Amino acid sequence: MLREKLRDFDALLSMVSDRVDCDLIRRVSNRLRIVANMAVGYDNIDVKCATQYGIYVTNTPDVLTEATADLAFALLLAVARRIVEGDHFVRWGEWWRSGTAFHPSMLLGVELYGKTIGVIGMGRIGRAVARRARGFGLKVIYYSRRRLSEEDEKALGAEYVDLETLLARSDFISIHVPLTNETRHMINEERLRRVKRGAIIINTSRGAVIDTKALVRALEEGWIAGAGLDVYEEEPLNPNHPLTRFKNVVLTPHIGSATRETRLAMAMLAVENLIAFAMGREPPTLVNKEVLAVRPPGFIY
Ligand code: NAP
Ligand code: GLV
Repeated sequence: MLREKLRDFDALLSMVSDRVDCDLIRRVSNRLRIVANMAVGYDNIDVKCATQYGIYVTNTPDVLTEATADLAFALLLAVARRIVEGDHFVRWGEWWRSGTAFHPSMLLGVELYGKTIGVIGMGRIGRAVARRARGFGLKVIYYSRRRLSEEDEKALGAEYVDLETLLARSDFISIHVPLTNETRHMINEERLRRVKRGAIIINTSRGAVIDTKALVRALEEGWIAGAGLDVYEEEPLNPNHPLTRFKNVVLTPHIGSATRETRLAMAMLAVENLIAFAMGREPPTLVNKEVLAVRPPGFIY
């Protein structure tokens, strides 16, 4: 469908759900000049192929950082404090039927204060999560491709560790790497087996960073205490998916950046990129800078 429609357009404002692969790019390359993704992640686009065909690719970094970090934290609190279970307990009358207003062991969760959170991918969103974590009295450890400067580590109160140490030491793990060839199934069965017993995993990055089959096994066999997920290997998630069976898993439908303020800012930034391009300037958040050598800004069609 996108293929047919795109033939007559110079620009595409795409969503993460739009797959812009090399086959599509090749077919529309005599007309299409820019793909403005309304997302920071751009794993839905074959950027290398777009560059070869002189097609600009832009994304929307920064403007969605705080909203996405909020959602990661909301998922963490929801799983740790069993908020969705509690809501169901009240809403579906179980509390009422129990006749017990307060019981010392009703819906016990785990405390955040004094625990350790491991952030995987200490980029914009990872750092925003680390800032929130300190406010909750968590110790922050992190693993990322590059270590932060000493100054940044000090400001965030974050300790750099290797991935295996992070898995073994963290009570909560929050994933913030982009989906790439290196990060696909980065959290696989072998690594899930090394996670500290009782840990909770939060994923607001991309579903395929975790091997879902292994995650289901980890939940079934109790290697981890729970998970909070906003992203999935297949989206939308089938309601019959095994992940929907667990009470200790909170699922949201890819809404990391879904606040009114952030979505407006993302749309504005995507459009700014398109306008800059149309005016012959370099788009402000160009992903594939190498394309400038293939087709400089302001090129004549
Ligand atoms: P970012 O600033 O680029 O941060 C990503 C971090 O991951 C960087 O520090 C990066 O290292 C690190 N990294 C990359 N590859 C790695 C690897 N193989 N091993 C370890 N670390 C690696 O991106 P962001 O703005 O924080 O966004 C992160 C991701 O969140 C996006 O790519 C997107 O998939 C996802 N996201 C989801 C939602 C949602 O709705 N759920 C919303 C926004 C974003 P370098 O510094 O070396 O590059
Ligand atoms: C959303 O998933 C994004 O990458 O912005």
